[in-house]
Amino acid sequence: MDEREAALIEIEAIAGRDGDVLQRVVDLLHERFEDYSWLGIYLVEGSDLVLGPWKGPQATEHVRIPVGQGICGAAAASGETEIVDDVNADPRYLACFPSTRSEIVVPIAHEGRVVGEIDIDSDRPGAFGAVDRAFLEHVAELISPYRLAGRQAR
Ligand code: SME
Repeated sequence: MDEREAALIEIEAIAGRDGDVLQRVVDLLHERFEDYSWLGIYLVEGSDLVLGPWKGPQATEHVRIPVGQGICGAAAASGETEIVDDVNADPRYLACFPSTRSEIVVPIAHEGRVVGEIDIDSDRPGAFGAVDRAFLEHVAELISPYRLAGRQAR
């Protein structure tokens, strides 16, 4: 079993228990995967994305992002995962940390609507590929009923 399969089994167990599911999943992903330098879950509130649980060396100033702005807003608007190998070459990029080189944003859908997203910044260029994408899209499915941190939103 590889590290992603092992993480999925643990995330499935976290999602099946009470408690702050989203924060625990954020903590687990940040701890297990070295390339996941900063990791947060944004939740859709009206036409904005509002930062929920996060883990990383620093807080981000981007705690509210209009849908349609930045890489985060693009993924929320399209409902499709965004992978950016070089953030400095992407004009949509909203800078958070000077050390960030690449980013993946994976929408979380519930009952056909985007309700949030997983946003991961990496200090390594091109850190995210098809394997991360499939893994994180699976994680997004597992946590989609828990978009309200600390509550049972099912
Ligand atoms: N870089 C994101 C903004 C969020 S920070 O990465 C935490 C973007 O371009 O939407």
